[in-house]
Amino acid sequence: MQMLSSKIPTHPAFTLRIFSSRIYVICDPSLIQAVYRNTKAFDFGQFVVESSQRAFDIGEAGMKIIRGETAPNYDPSGPCLNGNKGDSYLNEHHKLMLEALSPGTGLSELNKGVLDKVAEHLNVIDGGEKKVGLYRWVRDVLTLATADALYGPHDPMNADHSLIDNLWDFEENMTLLMLNLLPTIIAPKAYRGRAAIKEVFRKYYENHDELTGSTLIRAHLACAQKWGFSADDIANFEISTLFLATTNSVPTSFWQLSYILSSPSLLHEIQKEVEGIVKRERKEDGTEEAVMDIALFQSHCPLLVATFHETLRLIDAATSVRAVVEPTTLTSSSSSSTFSLKSPSVIQLPSGITHTSPSIWGPDASSFNPTRFLPSEKGALDKETRRKQNQGYFPFGGGKHLCPGRHFAMMEILAFVAGIVVGFEVAGMDSVPDRAFQKLGTAVRKPVADVEVGVKRRVGWEGVRWRFEGERGRLDFKALGTDSDDE
Ligand code: HEM
Repeated sequence: MQMLSSKIPTHPAFTLRIFSSRIYVICDPSLIQAVYRNTKAFDFGQFVVESSQRAFDIGEAGMKIIRGETAPNYDPSGPCLNGNKGDSYLNEHHKLMLEALSPGTGLSELNKGVLDKVAEHLNVIDGGEKKVGLYRWVRDVLTLATADALYGPHDPMNADHSLIDNLWDFEENMTLLMLNLLPTIIAPKAYRGRAAIKEVFRKYYENHDELTGSTLIRAHLACAQKWGFSADDIANFEISTLFLATTNSVPTSFWQLSYILSSPSLLHEIQKEVEGIVKRERKEDGTEEAVMDIALFQSHCPLLVATFHETLRLIDAATSVRAVVEPTTLTSSSSSSTFSLKSPSVIQLPSGITHTSPSIWGPDASSFNPTRFLPSEKGALDKETRRKQNQGYFPFGGGKHLCPGRHFAMMEILAFVAGIVVGFEVAGMDSVPDRAFQKLGTAVRKPVADVEVGVKRRVGWEGVRWRFEGERGRLDFKALGTDSDDE
């Protein structure tokens, strides 16, 4: 889609025909936002329903619940999930994810859980250089930290680290599994990975280990039980939570680190910013603690935050997909084009097109330049360019299905990256690695190959114990740029 759009950059939209079906691809930022806003005509639920059975191996009784057929107001001749309205498992689950991951006590609990664990992983690197494959190390640390925050002290992933490979084997070939064609032959590792994760979570729920897990996991189980899912399907589903919580955060952290570590001047600037939010305290037992206040990112670390967004702009090419469920005229106040869309058809919103469009970002659109996200630079843009950039930058999707995990992801990634940048010296990251081919269904690409690096304490930071807290301010996600004003 990016290649097609670059051949016809003035086209705000185009149609792809695959046999008798139609895919509308929208490239104009204001039309993209108009699609996100119109949840009546453009539906996401159908895709969740279709992918659930094949990706997570849900049985027929479970599929009836997911399709909404057991809901009290189910209308067999009506639209999928009653046009996303009313009582249904998917609607209720959507609401609980939003509640648990929006700023508030649930999110603070998850942030604290994940950052305590990240600190533990940083603290073990002391007393000499540790050689690691950077991608794999980031993957393992963040998978374990995220799983611990979600599932609590009885988290199966932390109990058996071989499950990390199982999860990422599934992630690697989930799309092949979804073909549902001899899965044990075409995607044996993904198939085995899924089965292994299912088994440990079956035991986790059988032992009621969720009682010491996060509010999110307890609410998720209560909702599944209320709608009548079997214990088997509850275990089948669990991999989806872990998958969503790690599949994009891990490569994003890797890329942000790569961009910073491979540029000595950027590294130096960000080190100075982050040092300003770390307090060093001598404890009674003689140990020294370095406490990073994550609520100060927005006010004290503009370049770190800008680097996060610039990284996402370049490496996140998420494509939102919606079904056109009724014939619709697509229009927006800032676009002179109007399109008549037929139903049934599919509409795709590829962020890779707008994220790299020179008409939105200028002639250096394909280069890494974090300063473009600094509040001072954004403030100096003319109104029209600022509108196009705000509407054309959507790494977390948009509308009703805008990623609910974006606040959690941002805090996890910024704290992890900031901790490494200020407390550690990483040798061997001389340039940003090439990106691997983007697979269908993923938002963020992986590196084509891992990079071997040496990690050791930075001079002056030997022996300090890391801790993250958020006490000196309030997290402001508008100021941090994950919540837009939707101009
Ligand atoms: C850098 C990290 C992340 C990126 C780039 C990302 C990106 C996305 C995108 C593009 C979507 C689809 C939105 C749409 O089509 O409109 C999405 C959906 C979703 N994400 Fe994320 N995500 C990230 C991290 C997370 C985390 C950490 C969690 C959970 C803890 C999470 C949970 C979800 C869920 C539950 C949905 C489905 C929302 C719905 O159906 O309404 N994501 N994400």
